[in-house]
Amino acid sequence: MCRLADGLNDRPTGNRSRGFVFRFFGDIMKNILIQLDTDSQPSTFDRVVAVDAGADHIFSYGGVTADNVEPLVHGAIFTRNPSDLTHTAIFVGGSHVPTGEAVYERVKKTLFGPFSVSVMMDANGSNTTAAATVLCAMKHLDLSQTSALVLAGTGPVGYRVAQLLLSQGATVSLASRSLDRSREACQRLAMLYPGAKLTACESATAAGLKSATDGIQLLVAAGAAGVSLIDADQWRSIATLKLAIDLNAVAPAGIPGVEVMDKAKERGDILTYGAIGVGGTKMKIHHAAVRRLFEGNDRRFDTSAIFELGRHLLMPNV
Ligand SMILES: NC(=O)c1ccc[n+]([C@@H]2O[C@H](COP(=O)([O-])OP(=O)(O)OC[C@H]3O[C@@H](n4cnc5c(N)ncnc54)[C@H](OP(=O)(O)O)[C@@H]3O)[C@@H](O)[C@H]2O)c1
Repeated sequence: MCRLADGLNDRPTGNRSRGFVFRFFGDIMKNILIQLDTDSQPSTFDRVVAVDAGADHIFSYGGVTADNVEPLVHGAIFTRNPSDLTHTAIFVGGSHVPTGEAVYERVKKTLFGPFSVSVMMDANGSNTTAAATVLCAMKHLDLSQTSALVLAGTGPVGYRVAQLLLSQGATVSLASRSLDRSREACQRLAMLYPGAKLTACESATAAGLKSATDGIQLLVAAGAAGVSLIDADQWRSIATLKLAIDLNAVAPAGIPGVEVMDKAKERGDILTYGAIGVGGTKMKIHHAAVRRLFEGNDRRFDTSAIFELGRHLLMPNV
């Protein structure tokens, strides 16, 4: 109640007693986004997006882990009437995606019954970036008829790209410098999509990379920043290749010859996207997801839900 009364002072024209009546009926409740970041310094990027997406207040917490997040969630769910919890939401971010995933799981576990708020998980931009990547690919390719190679598919972004490609019926090869790491990632994906057309492969050797690229129409490079994953001549000579997407924004390019600003850029017979070319779509999805958090108190924006939101937004007829 104290917080509610304090909030009234933010109204430029309202007087306190009139404002209280409004507040009593719940029609001017402020939208609060609680940013739970696993890094010690909460991301300014995620804060700016939250402001632009219309959150009235952002409470930012750093150093959040699955072990210390529960009291923060209790603070979120026990302060407002359950019917007002649509105006409180949680965003899980931070650069270490596995820690973010653990926080997200613990947050969901802590919510119960009507004591629920909407939650979005986008640690390191992994979900919004993967969704944008696959939506860019869908503009040009029928994924159910597409054979795709995801280079560095073991990382948070590449893994999710592979996951979403599989969800759309694509045939996917997931490459890593280590065949063991690739197999481990593929095993996790196979549990999500039993019977999926999925192959683990290694990209550390010329022969391994050559074999992985055979017959692909889509190439996605999701390697760490500033790491080239394939030679310029090699990807340009893949006879079947139609679309190449490089998510790395830091020179040297993940796919040399693809530029960060490329957005459906024609390079010979191949269309290319660079990190910023995909980034515009990512930003649209990120904004929309934050806005949707305040449309109910039970939204859960994970990899699949963020992708479906992006698809609804950008390709409503597909
Ligand atoms: N455009 C956007 O809006 C946007 C948003 C977020 C992220 N990104 C970019 O997306 C890319 C993927 O992000 P992420 O967080 O998944 O990346 P990450 O975890 O840093 O790395 C992904 C994978 O890259 C491989 N790798 C790491 N160091 C390497 C090296 N020295 N040489 C070759 N391979 C190496 C590793 O796979 P193996 O060890 O299995 O080979 C690793 O699993 C990054 O470049 C990131 O900057 C773009």
